[in-house]
Amino acid sequence: MISIEHLEKVYPTSSGDIHALSDVNLSIADGEFVAIVGPSGCGKTTLLKILAGLESHTGGTATIAGAPIAKPRGDVGMVFQKPVLLPWRTIGQNVLLPLELHRKVGRAEKAAAQNLLDMVGLGDFVSKYPKELSGGMQQRAAICRALVHDPAVLLMDEPFGALDAMTRDALNVEVNRIWRETAKTAVLITHSIPEAVFLAQRVIVMSPRPGRIVDVIDVPFGPTRTLDLLGSPEFADLNARIRSYFEVTA
Ligand SMILES: Nc1ncnc2c1ncn2[C@@H]1O[C@H](COP(=O)(O)OP(=O)(O)O)[C@@H](O)[C@H]1O
Ligand SMILES: [Mg+2]
Repeated sequence: MISIEHLEKVYPTSSGDIHALSDVNLSIADGEFVAIVGPSGCGKTTLLKILAGLESHTGGTATIAGAPIAKPRGDVGMVFQKPVLLPWRTIGQNVLLPLELHRKVGRAEKAAAQNLLDMVGLGDFVSKYPKELSGGMQQRAAICRALVHDPAVLLMDEPFGALDAMTRDALNVEVNRIWRETAKTAVLITHSIPEAVFLAQRVIVMSPRPGRIVDVIDVPFGPTRTLDLLGSPEFADLNARIRSYFEVTA
């Protein structure tokens, strides 16, 4: 579904070039869930923006479904760290926004939005405004907005980084369920190694800038993830293995 080969990104700045990504190679299968972890500034957001068609690359190739990525695609949905809901629109109207940009919104579209909101427990909040919802609820709505046009690919850039730990755990369980029920190809960027291991089938470990892939770790758990996984020895072992890449040696 996604193919990245020898990808390079250099940002020219007034104080010289910033080499953000260096020789990144990665293939992601249709329906796969991949998480990317790496230190701050290693190019994770840059990589996701390139996949979303929001940023150009300066070398190599990046394709989705065989086509080079040149601009934002209709079959990709994106969730950002902040929910960025429009305050003057209801939750339902916010979720429908990506559809409105492309077509007339009728009964079928409204039903699709309602179904998504039901799926994340926000069914009764369709007519509420963002300020009436907690941060976790707003981020749930942002996930619905990313899914409303039924994209094949879901890109998430630290979507739960601003939430408290318990809300985050609950949303991780929900993302796992949504991924299983909708069969999307998912790419998650996160600072949290446990979150990466909890959700992904493969965890991609990136080096400090210029970002390169230093390891790809298969997560041996089945598709259904529940919170008791967090306490298992296998889970702890995988976490420790990934964390070892980021330990500062004195
Ligand atoms: N538009 C830009 N112009 C110049 N430098 C940028 C730009 N965007 C990101 N960078 C730089 O590229 C590097 C990677 O950034 P980013 O992809 O945001 O990293 P991450 O998401 O892993 O924290 C950083 O050093 C950042 O300062
Ligand atoms: Mg980032």
